[in-house]
Amino acid sequence: MQLVRTVAALREALLPARRAGQTIGLVPTMGALHEGHRSLIRRAREENDVVVVSLFVNPAQFGPDEDLAAYPRDEQGDADAARAEGADLLFAPPVQEVYPPGFSTTVHVAGVSEPLEGAQRGASHFDGVATVVTKLFNMAQPDVAYFGQKDAQQAAVIRRFARDLDIPVRVQTCPIVREDDGLALSSRNAYLTADERRRALALSRALQAARDAVAAGGRDAAAIAAAAREAMAELDVEPEYVALVDPETFLPMDTIEGDVLVAIAARVGRARLIDNATITVNIDSEVATLR
Ligand code: PAJ
Repeated sequence: MQLVRTVAALREALLPARRAGQTIGLVPTMGALHEGHRSLIRRAREENDVVVVSLFVNPAQFGPDEDLAAYPRDEQGDADAARAEGADLLFAPPVQEVYPPGFSTTVHVAGVSEPLEGAQRGASHFDGVATVVTKLFNMAQPDVAYFGQKDAQQAAVIRRFARDLDIPVRVQTCPIVREDDGLALSSRNAYLTADERRRALALSRALQAARDAVAAGGRDAAAIAAAAREAMAELDVEPEYVALVDPETFLPMDTIEGDVLVAIAARVGRARLIDNATITVNIDSEVATLR
């Protein structure tokens, strides 16, 4: 695996593969790689000739009160993990390579970026994500880019601008990787104390409560959300939001049918955690299949 720090070196390293018509898979990350990230790298490895992992803690997507300075950083550990999963290139640019003096452009996605995470974290969060991911797409020019369903709204924002801006990349979303007890893996889980780790199960339990409510015949979004909130209250966790939305537009659903995304955010101690599940209600058979 080759480590590159500049866009020029990245392009040079990719040139032979591009000339030979090989496929390039890109896995964008902010490092602190865990099994969730590793599952994306493995998927990219299975599906492409060349795999690029990017490692860049993007200051533009952190709010002034967020954890940019404290964000876990371990480049050596990340390089070891990326290499172990078969990555060919690790692109780890310094901040000034991505945002040189005079940088003035923002990619803003209306609509899908506005509710939930956009409302809680402010519009600058998804502006920062969309801008940096657009840049990564232009830097590496991948055939396929891999993102986790863990950040479902982020993936929907990325699908939206890739389509809107005619970026020739396939945006592949991959399943959420969880601990055995259900907690979705996140770099921010490192902030949890032992007691908070136990209470952090409130999110996955709430998703299970939502599934159970649908399986029992519930179709009213407010009632399903209430069941989810109740499960969180049992672990003394107050959600920032519990929302039932359309998985592409993130518009709220009142009565659920077809695919519905249940999205949850909550602060547990110092960590701000998110989780989600897609529930499919098959109208014909009235059977809810669960994903
Ligand atoms: P980061 O939080 O490092 O996540 C990198 C990728 O890993 C994202 O696509 C995220 O959805 C995925 N991921 C995280 N936890 C996961 C889990 N438990 N299961 C499956 N996938 C998981 O998301 C970002 O970085 C940044 O916003 C980025 C896209 C790199 C732009 O800066």
